[in-house]
Parts: sequence; C-alpha cells; structure tokens
Amino acid sequence: MRYSFASRTVSLLSSPLRQIRENARLNSFISLAEELPAQELFPVKLLEEAARDVLASGPDVLQYGEPEGFKPLREWLTAEWGGRKNTLVDPSQVLLTTGTQQAIDLVVRLIVDVGDSVLVQNPTSPGCLQVLSMQGAKVIPVVSDGNGLLVHELEQQMKLHCPKLLFAAPTFSNPTGGVWDLGRRKDVLDLCRRHNVLFVEDDSYGDLDLNLKRGEMHPSLFALDDGGQGGQVLYIGSFSKTIAPALRTGWAAGAIPVIEGMTVLKQLADMQSSTMNQRLLHRLLTGPRFNWHDHLAQLNKEYSTRLKLMLELLKRPLWKEVTWRVPEGGMYVWVRLPDGLDSAMLLKAALPKGVAFMPGGLCTAGKEGASHIRLNFSHPGRDELLLGMNLIGETIAEFTARR
Ligand SMILES: Cc1ncc(COP(=O)(O)O)c(C=O)c1O
Repeated sequence: MRYSFASRTVSLLSSPLRQIRENARLNSFISLAEELPAQELFPVKLLEEAARDVLASGPDVLQYGEPEGFKPLREWLTAEWGGRKNTLVDPSQVLLTTGTQQAIDLVVRLIVDVGDSVLVQNPTSPGCLQVLSMQGAKVIPVVSDGNGLLVHELEQQMKLHCPKLLFAAPTFSNPTGGVWDLGRRKDVLDLCRRHNVLFVEDDSYGDLDLNLKRGEMHPSLFALDDGGQGGQVLYIGSFSKTIAPALRTGWAAGAIPVIEGMTVLKQLADMQSSTMNQRLLHRLLTGPRFNWHDHLAQLNKEYSTRLKLMLELLKRPLWKEVTWRVPEGGMYVWVRLPDGLDSAMLLKAALPKGVAFMPGGLCTAGKEGASHIRLNFSHPGRDELLLGMNLIGETIAEFTARR
C-alpha cells in the first residue's frame, strides 16, 4: 500500500535526528549529540531495592491509578519545592507526565491552535520545536544575551504577534547552559502578565548546577509568580536527568484550570503515566539510604569534571577557530563554528568517521543555528569524549584547511 502521511509529519520523519539516533545504537559509534545522562550514576541498587518493596506491597501497584499521578509523589515534589524553591503549591496543581516531553506536548495541544504564535527562547531544545511544528504553531524566536531574553525585543514581539505562550528555560537551558539574572526574570514575568502570555518554564536541567555552589538557588519564574499561585507560569520538569530517563516521570505544575485541561488531554493520550514507576521513584526518594541533595551534589561533581575535560579538549589546535561560552549548568556546550562552516554539512562529513554532534539548526527557530553545534559531555565516558572530540575537531580542521 502507498501510505499518505499528514503533511506536518514530513519534516519530523526526515529529521537528521533519526539517523543520529540510529547510528548511536552501534557500539563503534560515538555520539556527542544526544540528551543522555551518565548511566554509571543511575542509583541502580537502590532502585532494585525500591522495586522489591513496591511489588511486595500488593497487587494495587499494578492497577490503573489516578490520571494526575501517584499522590504521594506529587506531595513529595510540592514539599521539595516549598523547602528549597520558595513555592507554596498544592498537589492538586501538579500533573505527573511521561517526561517533560509529554508536558510540553499536552500544554501545546491544550492552548495552541494551528497558526497561533508561540515565542521561544532561541536556541532551544529540539523536542520543543518539534512539538510546536507538529501542532502547526507559528514559532517566533526570541533573542537572548548572557543574562536572559532581551526584554525590549520580547515586548516588540508580544505587541506584534499576540502570542499565546512563551517557552523558555531560565536556568541551564538546552543547549547553552546559561542562566537569566534576577532582573531579567522579573521583567519577563511582568511582560507576560501585561500581554496575557502563559510562560512555560522548562526546568529540566535546573538541578544540574555545575558551579557547585550548593544552596545558591536561581529563583524559578514559577516561584517569582506569587510563589506558584500567580497562574502566569506553567512549571515543567522531570526526573530524567537527575534519576533515570527510563522511569519516564516528569511533571507540569501551575494553575488548576490548565492542569485540569492537560489531565483531560493526557487521558486521551495514554490514560496515565506508569504508577508503578511513580511509586518506585517515591520509594527511592523517601527511603532511608537515599539522600536527594547528596545525590544531586555527586551528579554535579562528576558532570563538572566531564565539562572540564571537554573545555580542555576545545582548547586544542584542531578547534582553534571555534568559540563557546562556558555553561553554568546542564549537559552541553554550545559551540560557534569557524565563519562560513555549516553545521549540517559538518555533520554529513563527521558521520562516516563514526561520530555525531547535534547540528545547531535543530535547536533554533531562526537560521543562525547553522553556525553552531551542541556537544554533550554528560554521557560519553572519558575515552569516548577524547576520541569523539578529536574526530569532530579533525573534521572541522579539514573544512577550514580548504578555505
Ligand atoms: C529542555 C528539555 N526539555 C525536555 C526534554 C524531555 O525530557 P524528558 O521527557 O525525558 O523529561 C529534554 C530532553 O532532553 C530537554 O532537553
């Protein structure tokens, strides 16, 4: 049969991301492209114990559960945010989702009609751009400097496009790892209020602080919005980068009408996320042998070592014409290529050498992504990082030698 797929799937099905992911499954291939945490740091033993306890508690754990998600885990989250992140959120304001990816998908389905304008921090995560494109949104990129979105530009775009949503990651964005300062956070929130724009705050990397200054939190816009009660911010995040992505447990927290709407759509998509996984996580987080803050500290210590190695490798002669900004958190370095070098062309040349990176075009709504690549330092082991960086550096050097 000749299948006729919906036209909006065309770019998704032909995306270079598919080839990168296929290659990455080969043992001989080195991928610095993906969004994978270090699996050596997954708390496997403690999860094994937690799984035993949870299954021993009776058949209830294998039954359908509440579509909003396992209540004790929602309570754990709101208590954690209350203690550390200055919010006062009721568990009824939280929906547990199948990762942040589903939270993004649900809020876009709930709010965006085909042709509606949506503002996005630029660059941003490829997954967010793909969801917006599938929903037929008109994506408007918003420019940042080192301190956050440029407020004047943002205001112009709000006036011009009357967007419904603004997507951004003020703390350790994918791909730049940058942080907005407090003034910028307040100004952006104020603009969203004045122009009636829902701010979707993706805090997927918010706990991955590579400066290792424990306790020095960057206030979320959600917290600044009347401690989570203002209704202007939908706060989304996930355990994928801090515990393990296979548990597929993320959340959306915000105003009750938005959470209720997303819950209805979630039931259509998958009824509920795995209660079994949510119970497992809850058991782990509340168990006597696990300390959440020590776990984060250990993760951040290891990631900051891996980042240092990548930054050292970037100083080698093969990389001499590239520039980058040291990320403050997250799992990536966003690298600007030598003038005139296109990241998609570079990827084509790198793949046969057995290495991949994320071409910047997949992280940007505008055209400037072609001049950048995103490198992941959290997943590859040290040898892989060394070899992968050499191979990519070599490919860049071959291009620049030809100019
Ligand atoms: C910024 C950002 N948001 C959301 C996601 C989706 O993650 P998950 O669905 O595993 O929570 C990712 C994945 O890497 C990401 O980088």
